Formats: sequence, structure tokens, C-alpha cells
Amino acid sequence: MEDYALGYTDTERERLIRQAGIIAPITERLFREAGIGPGQRVLDLGSGMGDVAILLARLVGPSGEVVGVERSADSIARANARVAAAGLRNVNFLNSDVNNIVAEEPFDAAVGRFILMFLPDPASVLRSVVQLVRPGGAVVFQEPSWAAMLALVTGLPLWSRVRHLIHETLLRSGANPEMGIALYRVFQKAGLPAPKMHLEMPLGSDADFIRLTSDLLCSLRPLAEHHKVSLKELGDLDTLPDRIGAEVAAANTVVSLIAVVGAWSRKPATADSPRDEPLARQRK
Ligand SMILES: C[S@@+](CC[C@H](N)C(=O)[O-])C[C@H]1O[C@@H](n2cnc3c(N)ncnc32)[C@H](O)[C@@H]1O
Repeated sequence: MEDYALGYTDTERERLIRQAGIIAPITERLFREAGIGPGQRVLDLGSGMGDVAILLARLVGPSGEVVGVERSADSIARANARVAAAGLRNVNFLNSDVNNIVAEEPFDAAVGRFILMFLPDPASVLRSVVQLVRPGGAVVFQEPSWAAMLALVTGLPLWSRVRHLIHETLLRSGANPEMGIALYRVFQKAGLPAPKMHLEMPLGSDADFIRLTSDLLCSLRPLAEHHKVSLKELGDLDTLPDRIGAEVAAANTVVSLIAVVGAWSRKPATADSPRDEPLARQRK
């Protein structure tokens, strides 16, 4: 699991949860647009702390079901505790690599957020995931576009350096910071119709918002060292959030957290499998 760029420290897990809180409305809008709703059975790839699975569980309701796939057993333990604390009974996590998902029943939809960017061959994973979705079912992913974020750093030299050094570290680690835009091609390579897509960027200026990015840098620090990306020019990382905050306040502006590209498409019906209706209705 060492090859997962962000790693599994407690700080990184907390960062994911805080980030998820800000992105949740964007993710929910995309899921609703793709038709995810009551009674559906949904697969969530790379479920991490369970935030996407919890959001889905509320959308599909008690008659629906969510299966999250995550390869870190510790993350699953944490996600299970959060699901229980939320009083939800319709979520299960599968401790598996997304390359080897085994499911006995098909899904109405397969989704994932910030997972394909870390996979060496996202199209092949998506192609096998599409096999698990019923004809007419939705395939819905959210991935970043760093190019969109790097366009918004002018006039903020420290912030710009932080952004560029994170970007460089991700690139050298083999992750794809432009996976969001690449979804257009990856969906088609996986045999899906070209997806509907849009891009949203949460913007902010307060200390908690800025801290999410300096915490991301801290999660990536071992990887930066490994790939010889020097963070020395940033000075003391403990004071970095305050110094970025002062820079943003002096410019009286906002910065982006992440540029979230959403993409969704439907699995076409074929002569072999012409059925195009929700599984709940098929079961009746
Ligand atoms: C950036 S986190 C995103 C978590 C969650 N989807 C969210 O948006 O909050 C990526 C997650 O994918 C998991 N992951 C990465 N590669 C994986 C793989 N090949 N199979 C299963 N899970 C994987 C990591 O363990 C991590 O929990």
C-alpha cells in the first residue's frame, strides 16, 4: 500500500474528512444529476473515510444499499464507526483493491472520488467496474484538475510555490493531477459513451480552508523527499499556514481548495443485456 501517494497517517485521515465536508454539496449535485436516488444499489471506489458512501447512503435511503471498496483495513474500521455513528444500516465496505472487485449482484451505479488519479491504469479498472453495473446504470466520477487551480495563484508567491510543489510531487509519484479532464477519454476507453462533465472550485480565505492545503503538503512530505522535491524554500512548515493566511489577507482575495471535475455517463444496453431499468424494480 506504500504506493498510495497520500499515505495513511491520522492527520491525513482527518484532512480527508474535512475536505469531504467542503466538497459534499458538489458531489451530491453530481450524483443527483446522474440519477442516483432511492432504492438503488451503488458501488463506491476508494471509499477512504466513508464520506462518499455516507452521502450515497442518505441518497438511496433505507431501501437502497451502498458497497464501498477500500484497500486500507484501518480506513474501513474508521469508516464503519462513522457509518454506525450516523445511524446508517445500508452501507458495507469491502476490503479489496479496486482492480479485483468481486460482487455477486449488479449495481445501479458505480462512483468514485479522487481514486482514478492514483491508479496506473484507470481505464482498465473502469472497464472491469462497468461489468458490475446493470445496462442503463450510471458511472459517476470526480477527479481533480490541477491546471485549473494553478491558473489562480497569481499575485500570491508563497501560495503559488506551495501549489506548484504539491503538483510536482504528485507528478513525480505517478499520480495524474489532470485525471479530471482525462475522464473524458478514460470513460470512452472503458466502453462508455462520452460523459457529461463540469468543473467546480470551492474558494475561500479563512484559516481552516487554507490549512487543508498546507496539511496536504504535510501528507505528501515523505513522497516529496523520496522524489527529491525540496520543500526548503517554504521555510518552517509549522508556520506555513499562518504565512499563507497573511499573504491571502494582504491581497484581500480567495484561493481554491481543489478543482473538482465531475463526469457521468450511462452504461449502454446491448442485445445480450437489453434491460434498462433499476434493479429494485427488476427484483419486484
Ligand atoms: C484521496 S482518498 C479519497 C477518499 C474518498 N473517496 C473521498 O473522496 O473522501 C483515496 C482512497 O482510495 C484508496 N485507494 C487507493 N488506491 C486504491 C486501490 N488500488 N484499491 C482500493 N482502494 C484504493 C486509498 O486507500 C484512499 O482511501
